[in-house]
Amino acid sequence: MRRKLAAGNWKMNGLQANLSEVRTLNELAKDAQCDVLLCPPAPLIGAIAAEGGVVKAGAQDCHTAVSGAHTGEISAEMLADAGAKYVILGHSERRADMGETDTIVRDKTQAAWTAGLVAIVCVGETLDQREAANTLDIIGGQLAGSIPDGASGLNLVVAYEPVWAIGTGLTPTTDQIGEVHDFIRTRLERRFGTGVGRSTRILYGGSMNPKNVTEIAAVSNVDGGLVGGASLKAADFNVIVQAL
Ligand code: G3P
Repeated sequence: MRRKLAAGNWKMNGLQANLSEVRTLNELAKDAQCDVLLCPPAPLIGAIAAEGGVVKAGAQDCHTAVSGAHTGEISAEMLADAGAKYVILGHSERRADMGETDTIVRDKTQAAWTAGLVAIVCVGETLDQREAANTLDIIGGQLAGSIPDGASGLNLVVAYEPVWAIGTGLTPTTDQIGEVHDFIRTRLERRFGTGVGRSTRILYGGSMNPKNVTEIAAVSNVDGGLVGGASLKAADFNVIVQAL
């Protein structure tokens, strides 16, 4: 049985003052039936981890190397040292803005595993790709290229985030979500074996909010959410936590 995961991605939002939201969420979600995670900008990871409640801390990226001459970068080991348990990798904003390829994401995932972090590997199609009926080919290619050998249900989470649904208020139909999640499950089982494939959590991300979470969470093979905007306020995110 896969334990559901409510993961918040704060993206480039959040100051010390916003730690009050984390304290509130720790209180509201203290009896949560799912895992609860917030991935803030790096300067807040240590503070969220230090709160020590049900809300775990994660990061939004890591470097491929452990240390060295990479000004401005942060290694997976440093994130773990700061208290992070998870790291989001290959988010479409990084693939688009920073030119991250599947190969780079794969190397980052390997670095995350070496540091003991759970990698949340993001995949998803653009609107053009969906309209050209290429969604499953794109997702299949991203999965094959972005996940190294050695995945387990403990070190890997896959997040399906259709690019066109992120921050737009648009969401795929539940049939469309189910089709992609079933496809991801099948690919994971085929490559890593049924044990690993069945125990790996697959999150949906893209305009998930307190209103649509129940419907999306009921789709087969949806094991939680990767939530942007609706994770910034504890009251909103707690509705999602409680629905999972
Ligand atoms: O990683 C989460 C994300 O990209 C979804 O963002 O704001 O549409 O929930 P949002």
